Amino acid sequence: MLTFQLPIYAIFLIAVALKASALDTYIAAVYEHAVILSGETPKLVTPEEALRLMNQNLDILEGAIKAAAAQGAQIIVTPEDGIYGWVFTRETLYSYLEDIPDPQVNWIPCNEPERFGFNPVQVRLSCMAKNYFIYVVANMGDKKPCNSSDPTCPRDGRYQYNTNVVYDWEGKFVARYHKYNLFASEIYFNYAKEPQFVNFITPFGKLGVFTCADMLQFREPAISLVEKFNVDTILFPTAWTNGLPLLSAVQYFAAWAMGMRVNVLAANIHKPRWDITGSGIFAHDGPKVYHFDMETQNGKLLLAEIDVHPRLSPTYPPPVNWSLYASSLKHLSPESPVFTASIYFDNFTFTELSQEVGNYTVCQKGLCCHLSYRIAQRQKDEVYALGAFDGLHVIEGQYYLQICALVKCNNTDLKSCGQEVDSAHTRFDYVSLSGTFNTSYVFPEVLLTETQLAPGEFQVLNDGRLVSNHPISKPVLSVSLFGRWFEKDPPHPLSTSS
Ligand SMILES: *[C@@H]1O[C@H](CO)[C@@H](O)[C@H](O)[C@H]1NC(C)=O
Ligand SMILES: *[C@@H]1O[C@H](CO)[C@@H](O)[C@H](O)[C@H]1NC(C)=O
Ligand SMILES: *[C@@H]1O[C@H](CO)[C@@H](O)[C@H](O)[C@H]1NC(C)=O
Ligand SMILES: *[C@@H]1O[C@H](CO)[C@@H](O)[C@H](O)[C@H]1NC(C)=O
Ligand SMILES: *[C@@H]1O[C@H](CO)[C@@H](O)[C@H](O)[C@H]1NC(C)=O
Ligand SMILES: *[C@@H]1O[C@H](CO)[C@@H](O)[C@H](O)[C@H]1NC(C)=O
Repeated sequence: MLTFQLPIYAIFLIAVALKASALDTYIAAVYEHAVILSGETPKLVTPEEALRLMNQNLDILEGAIKAAAAQGAQIIVTPEDGIYGWVFTRETLYSYLEDIPDPQVNWIPCNEPERFGFNPVQVRLSCMAKNYFIYVVANMGDKKPCNSSDPTCPRDGRYQYNTNVVYDWEGKFVARYHKYNLFASEIYFNYAKEPQFVNFITPFGKLGVFTCADMLQFREPAISLVEKFNVDTILFPTAWTNGLPLLSAVQYFAAWAMGMRVNVLAANIHKPRWDITGSGIFAHDGPKVYHFDMETQNGKLLLAEIDVHPRLSPTYPPPVNWSLYASSLKHLSPESPVFTASIYFDNFTFTELSQEVGNYTVCQKGLCCHLSYRIAQRQKDEVYALGAFDGLHVIEGQYYLQICALVKCNNTDLKSCGQEVDSAHTRFDYVSLSGTFNTSYVFPEVLLTETQLAPGEFQVLNDGRLVSNHPISKPVLSVSLFGRWFEKDPPHPLSTSS
């Protein structure tokens, strides 16, 4: 007798395959959280007091996690510092920390809360993931005791790590990431000794984790997660202060997702008083949803449907040669007068856009930037300039930049080009920006008045031009190609300390 009786494991495999093939897209969520801080200045508190504050924040995060799950989200990312804030010294932070094990221990904290001692924050996060059946990504602090048998052990006998944790929809602890690129003010944390390439496979693609300055400073772990480990989606808890005109949160995250051609789920803190707001869900072809709010004090949940595997999407672009177009131009020597002005402590070489329509070139060291544009309607007192920067940035971290930027100047004084300015009235019909970059890591940024992005309004051509598709919908603050030349970076601080 011949029957088509499949062994039980084959049925299971078919079910898994069907589920996987059915899932071309998924719903992701990020939550911008108005974190409750411990105070204005560092304060020594007991572990009980610390837990009380963390539970207040976790109560709010739980509301967002529950709401995201109810709307069909498979995963939610919450911000860096979202559970206890950032006003700390090493000593005052200590009460907030838990010893977070290696995920290889195979642990569901919600089911076995006491297996590794007293870990109320890990248990609560795990229970939220399990109870609402959603992957939860959070940022907290890890402590690792050490002693003189370890020559790099800090004097107070412990490492303190800025840490991202991930729980799957059973509440199982699946990933732990120690931040490698600490920001200048994070003196209360230790650097991870090595960059950690934390990534894992889920029914909605391969996910990688890093945090905040990891997206700006050293090459690792961010670039290898994308290029070597081929992750589909970056989980990005952050606490990002907006830096106009080139480093506002949503502007830079959107540009990084586009330049690296991956999804980025970016959850920022909400503290307008500190200039911290700007979260979103960003894909290789532009922002899916984003939020920037300097007006209210409220948190915000964002959801969007995104590709499981962007690389398999029909709109996935081929790699860009960022220097091809500009290098092909014949007379790329600047004809218009240049001046120097700085963008966030970097001295750019600028030229003023003195006409309504034109082609301008400006060069600094090895980088020449080229702009073709047509202004539709210029506000009389508004000045725009094209700038080039090719050099090492040295404030709050050292990293090598090559940047071409069209910016609105703050006022009619040319020295004000590159200063922070957040509104504009001048409309452009057309913009095409390119540069002779020596790096393939170039992030295409477009920022419109009032820190708005321009989804669908620009595209990157294979020859490295960032061009507008139509007249731009709102007045322009900046259009830039933000290049990172990693080979010219100085060594990581850990490899230079003795
Ligand atoms: C020092 O730390 C090591 C590794 O953590 C541990 O095995 C050892 O017992 C510790 N020694 C003392 C004296 O605490
Ligand atoms: C990009 O184009 C330039 C100019 O034609 C060429 O020299 C360079 O090798 C290309 N770069 C890559 C990565 O293909
Ligand atoms: C940038 O220019 C200013 C003013 O000319 C100068 O004081 C400063 O040293 C320059 N910075 C660098 C890094 O060259
Ligand atoms: C700018 O350059 C483009 C392409 O080379 C050319 O078609 C256009 O006429 C130029 N515009 C001006 C105002 O020179
Ligand atoms: C921008 O210009 C205005 C005057 O036009 C000035 O008051 C303000 O301080 C400038 N902003 C910055 C960031 O320098
Ligand atoms: C950088 O690129 C420019 C223009 O393509 C080229 O002339 C220069 O040799 C390159 N410099 C380095 C160090 O690769």
